Amino acid sequence: MKKYSYRDLANFSPSLAYDDVLLVPTFSSIRSRLEPETTTTVAGKSLTIPIVSSPMDTITDYKMASVLGRLGASGIIHRFLSVEDQLGQIAKLLDEKAKTDKFNSEKIIVAPAIGVGREGLYRFEKIWREFSTSLDWIAIDIANGHSSLMLETLSHVKSKVGNSVGIVAGNVATGEGFSCLAEAGADAIRVGIGGGSICKTRIMTGFGVPTLSSVADCYREKQKNNLYSHVSIIADGGIRNPADVVKSIVAGADCVMVGRVFAATKESPGEVFKSANGKMYKVYRGMASEEVQIDAKNGLKPGTCAEGVSTTIPYKGSVEPIAMEFLGGLRSAMTYANAKDILELRQNTMFAQITGSGLDESHAFGTKK
Ligand code: IMP
Repeated sequence: MKKYSYRDLANFSPSLAYDDVLLVPTFSSIRSRLEPETTTTVAGKSLTIPIVSSPMDTITDYKMASVLGRLGASGIIHRFLSVEDQLGQIAKLLDEKAKTDKFNSEKIIVAPAIGVGREGLYRFEKIWREFSTSLDWIAIDIANGHSSLMLETLSHVKSKVGNSVGIVAGNVATGEGFSCLAEAGADAIRVGIGGGSICKTRIMTGFGVPTLSSVADCYREKQKNNLYSHVSIIADGGIRNPADVVKSIVAGADCVMVGRVFAATKESPGEVFKSANGKMYKVYRGMASEEVQIDAKNGLKPGTCAEGVSTTIPYKGSVEPIAMEFLGGLRSAMTYANAKDILELRQNTMFAQITGSGLDESHAFGTKK
């Protein structure tokens, strides 16, 4: 069997998606799933569950961010609302922190998103004026982060916040994109173009790279330069199962970002509604979908196209058991890898490429009729 390290994976041609690989088990002396330490550091903050929820208007407002924070994960408050409303969301998150006991309160990460250009800078200035001492991260959130628009905003934000706030920037798909943003002062970089479950970018433009290979490419770049060693990699787009979190980490990510996994939960923004079949649903929509454009700017401008879709997802209830199941998958994976911590998980683990029948065999096919 040919085995691949993250280095081999970065050089592998063609690019690989999560379902193209599995992780090869090794001899393990770990006796219990509770032994491994899952803590990871992202832009200077510790996460015990290496998952951040997406800055999307159907995923993260202050409720999602506070509940995930207490659990040891985190969320980035989206920017698709007025500046005043976003300031209100940050204030509510700070209220939640104030109401929480000291141990859990410290776990709640205060992280709003901004865009780029004039609107992005205006939003940043307002947030910075009011909350400069309370912010943990600020996320500069744009579809193509390997761009002059990103660099302009990033250099302005960096000149204001210095090292007092972690800057999360993205998205990029390549090692070049990673080093460009790391050089410009980003502390964490979102990696993944076109892999989101509500994304049409690859279909509309032909651009994108399977997220797993993007992560390996960025990690290889990170390894080349000691100055980037503190820069975190966030694998973003296409996470479906706990295994995808594990594969992301082995490929070089410090954590993942998820939309769909946490969509349609009690804590995600938006109303639950009952459909004609009597079942409960919530909306989950891409931030570049026509529906968002209609809400925000009276629809798509002529000659432009949507790069996201809107969908409905059966209501899932509280986000906590979902986050815990993902943590469980990671813990169990660490026993197969004989890994005491996240670094050992990456160092000890090799990928094996699989075929379509290997993927078929991976699912619980005993349930097929
Ligand atoms: P998911 O976890 O697979 O649902 O993907 C969520 C990710 O998709 C987000 O974190 C963004 O990076 C990305 N995303 C959000 N909205 C859009 C969109 O409208 N088009 C393309 N990508 C999007």
